[in-house]
Amino acid sequence: MNHSTALATPRWRPGLELEYAPLVEKLEQLIPCMEVPIHLPWIDAINMLKQQRGAVIMAHSYQSPEIFHGVADITGDSLALAQAAADCDADLIVLCGVHFMAESAKILAPDKTVLLPDLEAGCSLASSITAADVRALRARHPGVPVVSYANTSAAVKAESDAICTSANAVQVVESMGAAKVIFLPDQYLGKWVAGQTDVELVLWNGTCEVHDQFTAQQVRHTREQFDTLVVAHPECSPEVLAEADFVGSTSAMGRWLEKVQPARVAMVTECSMADNLRDQFPQVEFIKPCNLCPHMKRITLQNIHACLRDLQHEITIAPEVVTRARAALDRMLAVGRRERI
Ligand code: 13P
Ligand code: SF4
Repeated sequence: MNHSTALATPRWRPGLELEYAPLVEKLEQLIPCMEVPIHLPWIDAINMLKQQRGAVIMAHSYQSPEIFHGVADITGDSLALAQAAADCDADLIVLCGVHFMAESAKILAPDKTVLLPDLEAGCSLASSITAADVRALRARHPGVPVVSYANTSAAVKAESDAICTSANAVQVVESMGAAKVIFLPDQYLGKWVAGQTDVELVLWNGTCEVHDQFTAQQVRHTREQFDTLVVAHPECSPEVLAEADFVGSTSAMGRWLEKVQPARVAMVTECSMADNLRDQFPQVEFIKPCNLCPHMKRITLQNIHACLRDLQHEITIAPEVVTRARAALDRMLAVGRRERI
């Protein structure tokens, strides 16, 4: 394919299926096979543009299989993407995920251009709290350090002492060396962390609009109906978590599968996560409630292509916010990934 072909609307051409034979075989296991020929021209054009631009594409585990397996160079949970951005050599990063993830990449790689294919890809947790809310919390609890979940805006991160993800929340909280910590904004993750530490947590009332939909009754019904083990993300309610065989972050769920090798598992989390794991664990039968994150699903092959073609939707953050948010993110990176599985 030449440069001008890559810039035009991608169209099917003979030979494409052969060129991408291993990917076609993989995708046909993960999505309906009739979708694959529709995606392939876009995947091909994106890979071409990516090379021309010297870009790196990072994709979160909740991205659709055609993005996760088709065009991403780096994949993983929000901690893995933050770590990759901090270590990235490329000058251009396309973040296939939600806005707070692209902001974290920009804060950790401020000299790089970070593009988000759809700037409206938000998060109910990130929009549940503002920088002013954090200042008010600090005023109410003087001297108490603030640990914020990565699912927050850059402005909230700048008001925080440290950031965590679900992969290291307990360890980051304990690394503060305080008897009491303000933990925000996810109340369910906060309760789950509180159950694993002696540190007293002051919580905010945010929830994830996807994980908050699951109920304990549904989990019990799923277990009976499918005779299955159940794993759940700690953004689910405490009642749901109490019904699960394992509770863990996006990455911990993958390690649990490796260790337990269950015949069948119900994934109480975002639906694409199970789609992407099916490639790694073909012997496992996944029961996947098709709860999709509407924000994650704003990212498509079409808008990835447009953003690389037109170099559009750049993340910009005021330098003073970057400096303060960076200090909080650096504390998280110093703790790293230390889950107990
Ligand atoms: P991870 O930190 O596990 O990647 O999760 C991010 C997220 O948005 C979960 O809903
Ligand atoms: Fe935010 Fe929930 Fe979507 Fe994750 S799944 S990005 S926490 S709304």
